[in-house]
Amino acid sequence: MKYKGYAYIYTIGCQMNVYDSEKLAAILNSYGFEKTDDMDKADIVVCNTCSIRHKAEEKAFSFLGRFAKIKKRKPHLITVMAGCVAQQEGEKAFSRIPHLDIVLGTQAFSRFGQAIDAVKSGKQRVVDTKDSRMIYEALPDISDTSFFDENKISRFVTIMQGCDNYCTYCVVPYVRGRERSRSPESIVEEISLLARSGVKEVTLLGQNVNSYGQKEGQISFVQLLTKINKINGIHRIRFATSHPKDLSINLIFAIQELDKVCNHLHLPVQSGSNKILKKMNRGYTREKYIFRIKALKRECPDVALSTDIIVGFPSETREDFNDTMNLLREIQFDSIYAFAYSDRSSAPAAKFSEQIDEKQKRERLNNLLELQEHYTQKKNKELVGKTLEVLVEGKSQKKRDGFEQTLKNLEHRKNLVQMAGRSESNKIVHFPSEHVNIGDIIKIRIENAYPHSLWGHPVGA
Ligand code: SAH
Ligand code: SF4
Ligand code: F3S
Repeated sequence: MKYKGYAYIYTIGCQMNVYDSEKLAAILNSYGFEKTDDMDKADIVVCNTCSIRHKAEEKAFSFLGRFAKIKKRKPHLITVMAGCVAQQEGEKAFSRIPHLDIVLGTQAFSRFGQAIDAVKSGKQRVVDTKDSRMIYEALPDISDTSFFDENKISRFVTIMQGCDNYCTYCVVPYVRGRERSRSPESIVEEISLLARSGVKEVTLLGQNVNSYGQKEGQISFVQLLTKINKINGIHRIRFATSHPKDLSINLIFAIQELDKVCNHLHLPVQSGSNKILKKMNRGYTREKYIFRIKALKRECPDVALSTDIIVGFPSETREDFNDTMNLLREIQFDSIYAFAYSDRSSAPAAKFSEQIDEKQKRERLNNLLELQEHYTQKKNKELVGKTLEVLVEGKSQKKRDGFEQTLKNLEHRKNLVQMAGRSESNKIVHFPSEHVNIGDIIKIRIENAYPHSLWGHPVGA
């Protein structure tokens, strides 16, 4: 059916959810709904949810809870809970949000239209948490425009769904189902369409991209990267997430050899303690992790490294935590994402003994972030004096000191604006310019390092 009206989508969670929201937007578009950034104008509101930590889950409930009042004065408004919390809660979602119309699980997206039709024709409450082998092939294309940013030159493309690793703290295997890979043909076709619409950079997404295609007996992840490397118009390829237990030497060579694959690896370590890694069911030791990082640095000396860390996992002692602190000192990551362990009732660790109290988790998290701040700055400072290739993403929101100075020095150049882009190593770079376009790749000589960004001038300008 075709309808008229406005759709508002609120996305919580990981990059995969951002991609999924674009797919949901494309479906809504094909049903006649137009995008709005104004929640009050919306005829359908979708919250694409995340249940990785308690806080993310609460955010979804509190966002959707707000519509109880609004629905009283606007009864035709359709409210939708989509994604990971929807998959986890199913029918139970209505007990906390009685005014909800649709609960759309992670694998029910291809049936979103049917759910809307059902609600429009008077059905109260639709729940769809049924399994589907592969959802993306059945969903509309997202290359026309990005729902969220029409000029976006960097886009996510999910290449595999679900996860089979069952880390003991994690809900993903329960809310996203078993691991399954998209066909290489559908991925290459989607990226080619994106390239034709002006996209310059893609980030390939999966919970464990290194095992891409293995179950299906398809081409390997490295072979997929080789294919994507040949797509005209695409200048940069990123990917996340690699699992340390499956990081192969072939992937290391691919980072080094394939010209479009960025010199950056996100390799979540989670903990520096072997006791905790074992309890997490991560499948590698601290020593193995360090060995692989060393192999990577040997082949790609300039590679930027980032990681995820959980502090306060059940039974983590001060000594275990110190092992993690020391790992940070030893590896010196460019950046980290650190989280306090959050109990998830569907994951086994919720039943583990020796839970750590919240105050201690906060303290450890702060200590870890403080230590990392030092290395993030150090890594940024090492780039001062170097020339980096930067993909221009748009105008900078925040003016850096260097910009005011440049303006003073070049008062006659009235069209000077401060632009921002990203280096291959995923660092934000600000620079002054009069004539660059979004999507250009330009060389910037780095002159200043800030805690979370760099400043420089275009070479030759
Ligand atoms: N597949 C990826 C990560 C997916 S979830 C991987 O294996 O690395 C993203 C991050 O959230 C994880 O790396 C982990 O650091 C964090 N995380 C997952 N479950 C969590 C929990 N219960 N509490 C706190 N952080 C968690
Ligand atoms: Fe979760 Fe582990 Fe799978 Fe990552 S690899 S999604 S942390 S179960
Ligand atoms: Fe969250 Fe689901 Fe992603 S739980 S982190 S949105 S896979």
